[in-house]
Amino acid sequence: MKTKGSARQAPKAESFSDALLAWYDRHARRLPWRVPPEDSRVGVLPDPYRVWLSEVMLQQTQVATVRDYFMKFIQRWPTVGDLAAAENEEVMKAWAGLGYYSRARNLKKCAETVAFELQGKFPENVDGLKKLPGIGDYTAAAIAAIAFQTPIPVMDGNIDRIMTRTCRIGSPVRDSKPEISARLEPLVSPERPGDFAQALMDLGATICTPRRPVCALCPVNNWCEAFSEGDQEDYPVKGPKAEKPVRKGAAFVIEAENGAIYLRRRAEKGLLGGMTEIPGTDWTARIDGETGHESLPFKADWRKAGIARHTFTHFHLELEVWHATIGKAPVTGGWWSSPGEIGEEALPTVMRKAISTALPDLFRR
Ligand code: ADE
Repeated sequence: MKTKGSARQAPKAESFSDALLAWYDRHARRLPWRVPPEDSRVGVLPDPYRVWLSEVMLQQTQVATVRDYFMKFIQRWPTVGDLAAAENEEVMKAWAGLGYYSRARNLKKCAETVAFELQGKFPENVDGLKKLPGIGDYTAAAIAAIAFQTPIPVMDGNIDRIMTRTCRIGSPVRDSKPEISARLEPLVSPERPGDFAQALMDLGATICTPRRPVCALCPVNNWCEAFSEGDQEDYPVKGPKAEKPVRKGAAFVIEAENGAIYLRRRAEKGLLGGMTEIPGTDWTARIDGETGHESLPFKADWRKAGIARHTFTHFHLELEVWHATIGKAPVTGGWWSSPGEIGEEALPTVMRKAISTALPDLFRR
C-alpha cells in the first residue's frame, strides 16, 4: 500500500476490496435484481435470469429507468421459460422506450436458447455466456461475477472512470481497456466478486461521479493516485470526439375523426427494426432532404406541427412533423390505434416525440 502524507488518514481497512465492500455493506443501492449485501455475505445467490435481464437493460439506460422496466418484465415473465414462451410482439411492446430494439430481439432469442436448449439454465462461465445472443464481453463478465461469483474484472463506464482515476491512466478509456483490466484484476475480491463489481458501480454512480467526485467520502481514496495528486477531475482523459451528423426527415401524424392514429410496422432489418411508427420519409443527411410539403403522402388539410428532435448513437435526427385529421385515409398496410390503446403500442421514443409534437396530450391521457 502507498504511504500518504501526514494529513491523510491511515487506511481503515487492509485492502482496497475490504474497504470497498465495507462501504457497500452500508450503502449498497437497494435494487430489485440484487441480493442485498447482508444476504450475499452469507452466501445467498441471485437468480441468474434476473441478473441477465437487468444487465441487458442496463446496457441501455440508467438504473432509475431500468427499475420500472425490470419490474414490468419480471411480473409478466417471472422465469426465463415464461419470457421464451411470450409473443415477440408483446416483448417488443414491453421494451418500447428502452431503445435499441435489436437488443429486445436478442433478449427474446437468448431466453429461447436458455429455455429450450439449455434446460432453463444460464451457462456459468464467460465463454458459455458469450455464445448467447446479445451477450458481449461486459454482460458476460457481469453475469459471471454477479450471478455465479466468478472472480473476474467487470468493466463498465463507471468502473473505467474509477480505475483511470485510481491509477491515473493517461490515455483515453477506449485505448486503455487492457490496462484497466490488468489493474483491476488483482483488486477483485475472491470471496465476493459480485458485490465487488456492484460496489464499484455504486461508487461510480454516487461518489466517483464524472463531475465533482465526492472524494472526501470515498472509501478507497487511500488507494487513489489522482486524489493524492488532487487532479481527479482530469480523468478519464478524453479522446477526440466524433461530431454526430444531423439527419432530417418528415413524419406524418394521421388522425381519424374519432381520434385514432394511423400506425404501421417498420421493416425487420435496420434501425428500430420491427418497431411501430407513424408514416414518414427516409431520414437523410441532405439538408435539402424531402421534409416539406412535397413529401406529404396524400392530399389533406395538413398542418405543420413542429420539429421533433431525437439523438441516436450515431446521429441527431430532426423530424418535421405534419398533422392532418381526415375522414377516410388513403393509407393501407397499417392499423388505427385509439387514444386509449396508443400508450401500449411498441412505439420507440422518437415516434412518441413526433406524435406528441402534434398532439401534446395524447400520451398523458
Ligand atoms: N449497471 C450495470 N449493472 C449494474 C448493476 N448490477 N447494478 C447497478 N448498476 C449497474
